[in-house]
Amino acid sequence: MEAMNTKSEYRPVVVAANWKMNKLRGDALEYLEDLGTWMDEHPEGLGTRVEVVISPPFTSLELAVENRPAHARIYAQTMHQADHGAFTGEVSPAMLRDLGVDGVLLGHSERRSYYNENDGDLSEKVVAAAEFGLRPMLCVGETIDERHQGRANEVVREQLVTALSDLDVIKATSSGLSVAYEPVWAIGTGETASNEIAQLMHAHVRDVLSSIFTADIAERIPVLYGGSVKPSNATELIGQPDIDGALVGGAALEVQSFSEIVAAGLGLVVKAGV
Ligand code: PGA
Repeated sequence: MEAMNTKSEYRPVVVAANWKMNKLRGDALEYLEDLGTWMDEHPEGLGTRVEVVISPPFTSLELAVENRPAHARIYAQTMHQADHGAFTGEVSPAMLRDLGVDGVLLGHSERRSYYNENDGDLSEKVVAAAEFGLRPMLCVGETIDERHQGRANEVVREQLVTALSDLDVIKATSSGLSVAYEPVWAIGTGETASNEIAQLMHAHVRDVLSSIFTADIAERIPVLYGGSVKPSNATELIGQPDIDGALVGGAALEVQSFSEIVAAGLGLVVKAGV
């Protein structure tokens, strides 16, 4: 199926790099400098119609904030919901703000499956992030078994409703909330959802967002696709009408491939004239 190039004028395209537990500070700095150079050479649309997010591990967050390419936002990969307290090993929203971090990924499937992050905690985390001025990016997605059982839509609905229902309707847009649909079976596997499967699920996510908030607000919340996005499939995926960008793991570890995915987003926006 060909990319449709029907990008919404209400939502930016967001291309996010999730470094996961990778890169020492020297590699991180080199990456940020190289990406910054590339972004300076491709200014048209960056920071306005196409937003770039970099999500380093905690140890490189401060360095990333200090060396952030113009027009890029820096997101943490997780956080605790309390602003301080006896939670050994955790990092609070107040600490992230103190560093100058812009946002935070919440509910990544690796956090859900390895560290028991659940929808109840996530609901508190989304509210806490918004209160502290951190842009929440909520990750949702079904496992392969749930998809085979025909439960993918129900699982994703449940994840969204539980995690977002306590967020004030005004904060749904003012907080800079975005959602990343990442089918668990496509993360790090090289297997990508087809354009059709991804578009259908993104339309479903938008329906659920309208039922939680309003249709108008749902139109303004970017919904990214994640799961083995690479330069060769980025244009087709991001070209689907309800896919507003990509959350990229493996292919975001090198500036070359990540910038090609950002370029795919820029190309679609320019083509759609928005
Ligand atoms: P992947 O990771 O691109 O390596 O599949 C995506 C993610 O986990 O956010």
